[in-house]
Amino acid sequence: MALLHRPIYNHRLRVLLDAIIPHIRAGDQVVDVGCGNGTLAHAIATDPRTPEGVRVRGLERYPRGGEPVEVIPYDGERMPFGDNEIDVVIVADVLHHEPNPDHLADECARVAGRHLIVKDHQVKGVLAQQRISFLDWAANAPYGVPCLYRYNTPSEWVAFRERLGMDPVEVRDGMRVYPIVFEQIFGGSLHYLAVLTPGGNHPDGAA
Ligand SMILES: C[S@@+](CC[C@H](N)C(=O)[O-])C[C@H]1O[C@@H](n2cnc3c(N)ncnc32)[C@H](O)[C@@H]1O
Repeated sequence: MALLHRPIYNHRLRVLLDAIIPHIRAGDQVVDVGCGNGTLAHAIATDPRTPEGVRVRGLERYPRGGEPVEVIPYDGERMPFGDNEIDVVIVADVLHHEPNPDHLADECARVAGRHLIVKDHQVKGVLAQQRISFLDWAANAPYGVPCLYRYNTPSEWVAFRERLGMDPVEVRDGMRVYPIVFEQIFGGSLHYLAVLTPGGNHPDGAA
């Protein structure tokens, strides 16, 4: 299973790096919430496109040990950061694993200074619930990560952002995350990415 996962996971990783890195600035503090084995955080830290002086850490409810970046254990209550302390907070395919996603999202939004970047699934398209559920199971069961099989619809993602009081900088209502063929069944509209900013804090300086 791991051998099958690797090329698919590597493709997804490249797509996520392309989406995330343009939003990182020199000297930023970046935290990858639910970093798992730390691959995404490490790839951001070492990508040649990442600006100078960026510090990337992971935060994880179930740290695995041996991750290639610093990982801060998190008990699911209050994150060990002040309000707006972290320039860029990333939460990639984590919220749908969390029994209390509103609390996790609130904490991510509280500590995010400039951006909260959310990558997750969405129920959009023919047999979307079934396709995502299979994908979720296949990607996580081998690693013992429990699945709740609960995903947002596009309108629930809008409500999610509005409840947090954050403004969209960029929203991708579909992403080509996987290699061709696999992409046609498990990619596209099943994937959602939003780069959010605290309400009124427009990074380009506009009101
Ligand atoms: C599917 S993995 C995603 C890993 C990584 N973000 C990535 O994109 O490759 C989900 C991870 O989120 C973690 N997780 C779930 N709920 C969490 C929470 N409330 N706080 C921190 N991590 C959490 C799980 O332990 C698991 O490692």
